[in-house]
Amino acid sequence: MRAVVLVGGFGTRLRPLTFTTPKPMLPVGHRPIIENLVRMLAPAGVDEVVLALGFKPEPFMAAFPDGTCAGVRLHYAVEPEPLDTGGAIRFAAEHAGVDDTFVVVNGDVLTDLDVSALLAFHRRSGAEATLHLTPVDDPSSFGVVDVDESGHVSRFVEKPAPGTAPSNLINAGTYVFEPSVLARIPSGRKVSIERETFPQIVADGRLYAMATDDYWVDTGRPSLYRQANLDMLDGRRRSLVCVAVEPGASVDGSARIEHSLVAKGARVEADAKVVGSVILPGAVVHRGAEVVDSIVMGDIGERAVLRGCVIGASGTVAGGVSVSDALVPDPSAA
Ligand code: GTP
Repeated sequence: MRAVVLVGGFGTRLRPLTFTTPKPMLPVGHRPIIENLVRMLAPAGVDEVVLALGFKPEPFMAAFPDGTCAGVRLHYAVEPEPLDTGGAIRFAAEHAGVDDTFVVVNGDVLTDLDVSALLAFHRRSGAEATLHLTPVDDPSSFGVVDVDESGHVSRFVEKPAPGTAPSNLINAGTYVFEPSVLARIPSGRKVSIERETFPQIVADGRLYAMATDDYWVDTGRPSLYRQANLDMLDGRRRSLVCVAVEPGASVDGSARIEHSLVAKGARVEADAKVVGSVILPGAVVHRGAEVVDSIVMGDIGERAVLRGCVIGASGTVAGGVSVSDALVPDPSAA
């Protein structure tokens, strides 16, 4: 069984982190998001993952030099230009010669979904495409479906205006497709699977969906990316948990690490305090600095105080200053 994983987006909302690291290569629980996804797919019988690459393909190839990830074979399909979600799925599937039922995953979603249950549901219903759904309080920024008890989808609306959504069940970003879906996607141009292809399959009565209340998070925004990391630390994932300080991180004995992750290759110096934060490889938190509810790849000066900040790899915060809710470097100035 093959799976296409969409990993070629720009990750605009996670700037400045994604200036240097593509979103699916950012760690959650000390493992790149893509590796978390591969570990979800493997137990369902996925033995080859096709990476639908575009923006910054090199970090993926460098991270998995032998062409495998968590024991699963990788196939790299690099788009000549961004083709949007549908175009990317078609390009990648054709590049890898997919000609059987396959799985598709958005490269920024983390879930405890049992992918074999989604496959079994797909086969039982005879669907052409099956979506995983998850309930949310406000569905207006997602793809929302109208679905009956058998899982038959009668409507798919991408980002409905507030108050007009047909349900609170949203497209959770994991799909099972028959290869016939590929023929519905025009080649060589941008196609949104959500806006163009799903409504077509609905019109033919062949789109089904399975809702679960499994753990689910879309890591695409800084607050949710930080949350995904803390959830793993807090044991909120079904069978995954991580340590706070990864072996290979340098943390001075007098530093205080509270409810935070510190990655291998990061340094936290004497008397620094880190609370509710994610300290990524390459980050340096100098002596006496305080980092609260933040994500850090860059350099935090002595006795600086940070709250709710995102500091990219080239970001520096001068010693002694206090900063709140800032993105450094500022993506709007890029
Ligand atoms: P934002 O720029 O912050 O919206 O993030 P994004 O670029 O990742 O876009 P979005 O979250 O809507 O994309 C959903 C998934 O599709 C992500 O895993 C992206 O990597 C992927 N994706 C989006 N557009 C493309 C594309 O043109 N090509 C490929 N290969 N993947 C894409």
